[in-house]
Amino acid sequence: MRTRIVAGNWKMNLGLESAQQLATDMLELYEETAKEADVVLCAPFPFLHAISELVKDHEKFFCGAQNMYQVEQGAFTGEVSATMLTSVGVDYVIIGHSERRQLFGEYDEWLALKVQAVLDAGMRPIFCIGETLEQRNTGQALAVVQHQMRTGLFHLAAEDLNKVVIAYEPVWAIGTGISANRIQVQEMHALIRAFVHENYGLELAAEMQLLYGGSVKPGMAKEVLSQPDVDGVLVGGASLKADSLMEIVKDSDTV
Ligand code: PGA
Repeated sequence: MRTRIVAGNWKMNLGLESAQQLATDMLELYEETAKEADVVLCAPFPFLHAISELVKDHEKFFCGAQNMYQVEQGAFTGEVSATMLTSVGVDYVIIGHSERRQLFGEYDEWLALKVQAVLDAGMRPIFCIGETLEQRNTGQALAVVQHQMRTGLFHLAAEDLNKVVIAYEPVWAIGTGISANRIQVQEMHALIRAFVHENYGLELAAEMQLLYGGSVKPGMAKEVLSQPDVDGVLVGGASLKADSLMEIVKDSDTV
């Protein structure tokens, strides 16, 4: 059975103290309800060490980064490498978030290098894919997602792809309050799984953990998480409150 993942993407929010408080509150709330899902807290770079220290003894909590540069070390002012992340206890790295693609010009071939570097360092990438509203309205959603998978992931050997978490995040649903509905989510997740099947075979396709992201909130999360091909969620805004993220964790367990 695929383990469920509830990942919180804090984006460029919080300060050190509020980030530590948020993680501490989440750990407490999680204990109260004793849930099964893995929780990944994707914090801004300056807080990663503090957050990983807080979660390191909890078997269901993990620390995630939101980005990374693929080169090991050198003259790359402002960048952060995979070894730097592992040295502060990071387990997961979000790669190819649509904000990185749109605002910082990250493109599929570059993201493929980042994915490889995350895996080489022994961490797991959370690889984001998803179409814009215009692409959906013109019937290109599947082609876009398949292209992102082919160029960003399909250079990987099966045992490496197995460690990747795919997050389907339609761009039109991110931060807009308009989530994709459960039918749209299930439809795309089934197609993503089928595409892995086509290229890597049934066994790997059946094991891939597929997350949905885009305006996930407590309550509606349950609907989405009840779909057979949805293994978890990537949550932005609602992950900035301990009770709402833990509500979503609860939703992931009761479906
Ligand atoms: P949102 O963000 O939940 O605020 O829509 C999701 C994301 O960007 O990962």
